[in-house]
Amino acid sequence: MKRDFKTILITGGAGFIGSHVVRRFVNNYPDSKIINLDKLTYAGNLQNLTDVENKPNYTFVKGDITDKNFIDELFIKYNFDAVVHLAAESHVDRSISNPTEFAITNVIGTINMLNAAKKSWANSMEGKLFYHISTDEVFGSLGATGFFTETTAYDPRSPYSASKASSDHFVMAYYHTYKLPVVISNCSNNYGSHHFPEKLIPLAIHNIKDNKPVPVYGKGENIRDWLFVEDHASAIDVIVYRGTIGNTYNIGGHNEWKNIDLINLLCKIMDKKLNRATGTSAKLITFVKDRAGHDMRYAIDSTKIQKELGWKPSLQFEEGLEKTVDWYLANEAWLNNVTSGDYQKYYEKQYVQR
Ligand code: NAD
Ligand code: TYD
Repeated sequence: MKRDFKTILITGGAGFIGSHVVRRFVNNYPDSKIINLDKLTYAGNLQNLTDVENKPNYTFVKGDITDKNFIDELFIKYNFDAVVHLAAESHVDRSISNPTEFAITNVIGTINMLNAAKKSWANSMEGKLFYHISTDEVFGSLGATGFFTETTAYDPRSPYSASKASSDHFVMAYYHTYKLPVVISNCSNNYGSHHFPEKLIPLAIHNIKDNKPVPVYGKGENIRDWLFVEDHASAIDVIVYRGTIGNTYNIGGHNEWKNIDLINLLCKIMDKKLNRATGTSAKLITFVKDRAGHDMRYAIDSTKIQKELGWKPSLQFEEGLEKTVDWYLANEAWLNNVTSGDYQKYYEKQYVQR
């Protein structure tokens, strides 16, 4: 039976994936109150949600998941019956420069959320849900063959994936120890609109547009399994309402691309969209020093969510990538806004001084 929730807390709703989740839930569930809690770090942007900000079932709250007292009070104020927890530090390269920040936000922040839910639901856990959004990176790095399944052993290798793995373990510990009604999903790399341009695809689109070098780490042979962000949001939707408590679900698009092949495809699309001669954008590809501990290959087996919950991805990659490029080219103001200020400093440190 489908669950019903009166008040849903979505954390990290001003970020890339979170904004797609908030939009979907605000539009699809007008009888539920959707509260978006976000600290608005460099990655959080309320411009991502202008189309829903005036809807009567939507409320934004600025706040920090690492602030325990604030989180406890928020649960008392709103009496949430479901939590969809996305707030996190999410960029591997930043985690290599500052692992402690990742431990504080992703691990301690998640424990604060778990404690607040446990306290708020102490009288009855019936009809409640704590849903933790995680990543396939917790499983480590694959060789040329095989896929991550829900039973693959955790083997995180970057500070980011270690912090996400740790938070996943705490979520499961609260299920086993305190019977907190939890569910976790581990998703592959997302792409789509509103993606902060420090990640591969939006960074490449941005640089190609501006005729700047497109940095490819190492030889570009690392493989990622790309999923359109709205397909991740639709998977989150089915898990919120029908996912089995205490379970984990792998989400992915069976869509593996070597980084260099992906960038070449993107260059072709950009040549077409910008009316450039074929091959112009590919000249911008620049091989740079590899990421430390760079995971070779990620690939998800999503059979469980497909069979159990009937979810499947809606888009082919070429179509999704073209849609994504169209969005970035039509939203230059968004791009200019998020790439001013602090981002310039980050970009200098990460790429110019390497
Ligand atoms: P993002 O960096 O775009 O957004 C993260 C959001 O969390 C931002 O809005 C930020 O302001 C907010 N936030 C950060 N610290 C906070 C704090 N202390 N308190 C409150 N809010 C805070 O990240 P994303 O790519 O949208 O990822 C969202 C979630 O999905 C993360 O948990 C990530 O691990 C997971 N995930 C991401 C991918 C991907 O490909 N991007 C894939 C699988 C899973
Ligand atoms: P990224 O978008 O950072 O996601 P993740 O590290 O979580 O998979 O990177 C995707 C792939 O692209 C990864 O193999 C690293 C590589 N990459 C580059 O080659 N150049 C870049 O400038 C960035 C940001 C990533």
